[in-house]
Amino acid sequence: MNVRTAQELALPVGVTLDRFIMHSQSAFPYATGELSQLLRDIALAGKIINREINRAGLVDIAGANGTENVQGENQQKLDIVANIRFIRALKNGGEVCAILSEEDEDIIHTGNNHGKYVVAMDPLDGSSNIDVNVSIGTIFSIYRRVTLISEPASMADFLQGGRKQIAAGYILYGSSTMLVYSTGDGVNGFTYDHSLGEFILSHKNICSPAHGNIYSVNEGHYNSYPPFVKNYISHCKSKSYSGRYIGSLVGDFHRNLLKGGVYLYPSTKTDPKGKLRLLYECYPLAFIAEKSGGKASDGFGNILDIIPDSFHQRSPIYIGSAEMVKDVIKL
Ligand code: AHG
Ligand code: MN
Ligand code: MN
Repeated sequence: MNVRTAQELALPVGVTLDRFIMHSQSAFPYATGELSQLLRDIALAGKIINREINRAGLVDIAGANGTENVQGENQQKLDIVANIRFIRALKNGGEVCAILSEEDEDIIHTGNNHGKYVVAMDPLDGSSNIDVNVSIGTIFSIYRRVTLISEPASMADFLQGGRKQIAAGYILYGSSTMLVYSTGDGVNGFTYDHSLGEFILSHKNICSPAHGNIYSVNEGHYNSYPPFVKNYISHCKSKSYSGRYIGSLVGDFHRNLLKGGVYLYPSTKTDPKGKLRLLYECYPLAFIAEKSGGKASDGFGNILDIIPDSFHQRSPIYIGSAEMVKDVIKL
């Protein structure tokens, strides 16, 4: 009989997100811990949203009778629920003075005017995939405020431009739930262990492959794409690249980040500025792309260099493996 050693019987669980954040913070002697706390708040919101998503099917069954949920609230769409959960977690955390969300026209003041940070977020990305049990995500972007502490936050805090992000990331609710983020120094991924209720470091220092053989684009809109995008799609076909398109930006981006590939959401005749939102879809993923060695362009220049003029402005995006993004632009 093969007797297992004590080590084999009790394998280490790995590094928890909390410990990782603590270690990273200790590398900066003057860090006050506020950003660390904010990242923990985001992780907590992610866990709660993950729970809501996993219950979504059950809620629908209960909801079929027109009933209320256990809290006595009316049943709401999951992207609204995710929005509420996220805002609540950030308000309770106390580090954030204002939030910009895809779900709200205007910025949300948390009431914590002493908070040093603002967060832009897409609480639930890929919402058309909720009802059909396909991967969805949350995207977030963090800035240090530029307005005076103790005063209410303003537009200026959110319109600083992608280069001013101090941290960004996403949570992917897929076959497992993962948090991927960067504070500027490398990109790390944590997989959620349900039994422990903890995110565990599973993807240390993610490096985007310089090249890959996956292209992700909604080819249904092919006829209205600009000529260079059509040329690039032909190029992908001539190379027999694999077409992979979930329709959840977070899922498509994450797959390409790990395997090598490019995601395209060009301008179309109906959406001349593209569909995706600069502040809480394009910037944060461009930040992650760049910090992992990848690239993001709007077809003219680097996404991160665009200076925005409104909260919900859109941009075309070509993002992923550096060489592939260069190929798109070259054409
Ligand atoms: P959201 O669910 O936050 O509105 O975002 C949906 C986005 C993105 O996740 C996805 O890649 C894209 O819309 C898909 O758009 P098409 O259906 O036009 O391809
Ligand atoms: Mn989205
Ligand atoms: Mn959304």
